[in-house]
Amino acid sequence: MAKPMKTTEQTEVSEAQIAVHWKEEAYYQPSEQFKAQANLQDPRIFDRFGLDKFPDCFREYADMLTWFEPYHTVLDTSDAPFWKWFAGGKINASHNCVDRHLAKYGNKAAFIFVPEPEAERDMVITYQELYDRVNELAAMLRGLGLKAGDRVTFHMPMVPELPVTMLACARLGVIHSQVFGGFSGQAAVRAANELGQDVDKVLVWQRYAGKYSAKTPMVSGRDFFVNDLLKEHKGKQLEPVALPSEAPLFLMYSSGTTGKPKGAQHGIGGYLAYVTATSKWILDIHPEDTYWCMADIGWITGHSYIVYGPLANAATSVLYEGVPTFPDAGRPWRIAERLGVNIFHTAPTAIRMLRKLGPQEPRKYKYHFKSMTTVGEPIEPEAWRWYYDEVGKREAVITDTWWMTETGGFLATTVPAIHAMKPGSCGPAAPGIHPVIYDETGAEVPKGSGKAGNICIRNPWPGIMQTIWGDRDRYVKTYFSKYNQNPRSKDWRDWPFLCGDGALQAADGYYRILGRIDDVINVAGHRLGTKEIESACLTVPEVAEAAVVPVQDEVKGRVPEVYVALKPGVAPSQAVIDRVIKANEEVIGKIARPKHVYIVPDMPKTRSGKIMRRVLAAISNRRDVGDVTTLANPDVVEQIRIMVQGKDTQTTQDALPEDIAKFGQVE
Ligand code: WTA
Repeated sequence: MAKPMKTTEQTEVSEAQIAVHWKEEAYYQPSEQFKAQANLQDPRIFDRFGLDKFPDCFREYADMLTWFEPYHTVLDTSDAPFWKWFAGGKINASHNCVDRHLAKYGNKAAFIFVPEPEAERDMVITYQELYDRVNELAAMLRGLGLKAGDRVTFHMPMVPELPVTMLACARLGVIHSQVFGGFSGQAAVRAANELGQDVDKVLVWQRYAGKYSAKTPMVSGRDFFVNDLLKEHKGKQLEPVALPSEAPLFLMYSSGTTGKPKGAQHGIGGYLAYVTATSKWILDIHPEDTYWCMADIGWITGHSYIVYGPLANAATSVLYEGVPTFPDAGRPWRIAERLGVNIFHTAPTAIRMLRKLGPQEPRKYKYHFKSMTTVGEPIEPEAWRWYYDEVGKREAVITDTWWMTETGGFLATTVPAIHAMKPGSCGPAAPGIHPVIYDETGAEVPKGSGKAGNICIRNPWPGIMQTIWGDRDRYVKTYFSKYNQNPRSKDWRDWPFLCGDGALQAADGYYRILGRIDDVINVAGHRLGTKEIESACLTVPEVAEAAVVPVQDEVKGRVPEVYVALKPGVAPSQAVIDRVIKANEEVIGKIARPKHVYIVPDMPKTRSGKIMRRVLAAISNRRDVGDVTTLANPDVVEQIRIMVQGKDTQTTQDALPEDIAKFGQVE
């Protein structure tokens, strides 16, 4: 049994304890007031979206959109598992997010941009203004020769120009690919190259128009200021292009098991239908609400639930430029109070940070949330309760939404007016999503068994990615091969989608997510591939070998810790450590900054020469390394242990969280 924990101890809680806690968790009920106003109140929805009604049930999602031409086939499986949703339909995402709202909501705010400096004024962008800006920019992009099917890579922070540029691309059918702002410029250029693009033009948005703030000089003939180019397109209008439902809308890069990031390709009709319906039913967005998702647009959460889903529902959405704790941990609550935010959406890492720095701050402000969301990582019951009691003031419902880049939108979550909440557990599956947990042999792990396995989705759904950009084989291999029995099958029942997480299902049907089963470290909700980090370390000339492991972190969930062995004759020095840190920041981004870099005399290795990351992970997480006598160099383990933990043993007996315990097993 987990002991009641003092606040100061709560961050030490192990996942095993959470599991115990989780079983004890009481249900929390949504208020009658919330239920009465919710978009989705009827529990019979789950009959309507039963597997026996698949795929036709998803017509209801497509009906939330405006189509230029109707689709003839809900789900075309002829090229399984490359699903085509709403085939035959013609549609435009920019039209659905902007134009169709003008008559009714033209003067209503689409975005309220809140700059990071608190003294700077908000900028309200109405749907009419959004329309004007998107049209001008689309005209400018077309003037540069861009047309449907071309690709544009963005590397932009949280400014209104980012959604404007996305929607301008969508208007033309140009595929956009946004590199998360936490990644470096180098990473952005790499991503562009992945798309087969040589960077031939660089368009620069200025944070303050007319003021050049970058250190890097502009390259004449290649680099242009958008504001200069826009001048000749002022006031222009450009009809949205009617595009096939299955044309790609955007690519979103995420880390995978190999060093090469994968570009998840999302198509227009299916994706837009899915994020529109889930924004309406799960986030419960009404056009009258003021919604704030405090995520980065460069992350899939921002694409789906700041830009496309909310705008398709005519939302008023807050766009905050800065970090939640600037200048202090009261900032989000001041913004919420001032703007009357009533739906709030963020990640556990931000919740933990705000709790740590200002546990009582929410009490000082008179905002009222009706609904709050968490996304990106498992949330500990302790943090959940603070979110519920303090941030939500016991009035707001919480949805813990579990999903991933590849899935476009929510997979498992409560429907807030229908289900009770259970801290630490995301909930049952979203309507029309039918998960199954398989063990390694492909046998189903039954609910209530207390056993975990690999969570898959039995059926396709409209939000699912279409493929990995330019790599059909990798798509099939990564997401389907493990449990597909018949690679020639055209029947969707033969293609369960492997989500990449370990999970277990309680007797009540609620899922608890344990974390990634691949070599991916989830840092503050952002996926970093271990191979990417190791390759970055190897760009430092002195480094011979590098291994990275995840370490539990009080705020960020997991952080990378790096071990390097140096080339013969190179002496260990702080300078080398600094270069390794710098390499990670430059090649990947600040988010990949290692917590520690240890220079070791040698890596612990098997006799066949493989680095035992599992052993390093145990050392970094202050756990017992287990039996290492079969290693080629067992002595080095003790040397490394002393280097990291000090002479006295400091291991804890707590079970390691599943993702760390399994880390490095697939070598
Ligand atoms: C993790 C983010 C527990 C999970 C939308 C998944 C979660 C990865 C949750 C995807 C949640 C996301 N509870 N874990 N509510 N949401 N995850 O692609 O391990 O950046 O596989 O998409 O985050 O991260 P991604």
